[in-house]
Amino acid sequence: MTDPNAKPAKGHEKLERNVTLMALATLVTVAIGGLVQITPLFYLDNTIEQVEGMRPYTPLEQAGRDIYIREGCYVCHSQMIRPFRDEVERYGAYSLAAESMFDHPFQWGSKRTGPDLARVGGRYSDEWHVLHFTNPQAVVPESIMPQYGFLAENSLKVADPSAMLTALSRVGVPYSETDIASAETDMMAQADPNANPGDLEERYPKAQIRDFDGNPAMVSEMDALIAYLQMLGTLVDVNSVAAQQELAEERGR
Ligand code: HEC
Repeated sequence: MTDPNAKPAKGHEKLERNVTLMALATLVTVAIGGLVQITPLFYLDNTIEQVEGMRPYTPLEQAGRDIYIREGCYVCHSQMIRPFRDEVERYGAYSLAAESMFDHPFQWGSKRTGPDLARVGGRYSDEWHVLHFTNPQAVVPESIMPQYGFLAENSLKVADPSAMLTALSRVGVPYSETDIASAETDMMAQADPNANPGDLEERYPKAQIRDFDGNPAMVSEMDALIAYLQMLGTLVDVNSVAAQQELAEERGR
């Protein structure tokens, strides 16, 4: 039990009665706490834990990503599953920092009028996406998502795909010289069933190569957008990453 009549520790009375001194002491204490947390970060090469499977986006996926940004999909959709039970049960394993390491700009979003899309890849067929973009209400009657059918009529045009990859490589995305040189052919070949994709799949593991929009005659903006969505959340094997982390934690114990 504390004695209410007990005298404060020696010197403490002075501190408690002097606002300036108290503020100064508080500042020093908080500064020490801050330094303890912040200083170690300066000695780390990378604050993002590397995980197996992450690779830069293919030129087609990247072009689809640019359409996603152009059309403002981020206004209604987030791309970050938070580590809460309700989110994990609805959307899948929570997002890892490494999964957005090649995102410039990131698409975490701040508004969910529609569902989170971080792991939408493979959840629906390409045909479902085409139908949903053309007329969302045809598949989800109560949907308020706008129609994007026009994307299937726009042929995919990127002024300079090599420049697109060069710009990304300047901010740290590890595209190789071959990736940059063959950006244009890679972009078209991923969605054109009549083209030869060459070593696309070796350079971009898990790249999905097919005609996405159901129209083999043209590579459209719809092809690019669906290629992007079908890749989201599929690169990292989250189950094996979770298992690895558990193992590492157990070893650390
Ligand atoms: C006005 C808000 C709004 C905008 C803008 C919007 N969406 Fe949606 N989206 C929704 C809503 C609401 C749903 C849920 C109902 C449905 O499936 O249509 C949805 C559903 C989806 C789904 C299905 C997700 C799932 O897990 O079921 C995908 C994929 C999707 N949107 C992609 C996009 C893309 C890509 C764009 C940009 C081209 C976009 N949306 C723009 C509101 C929006």
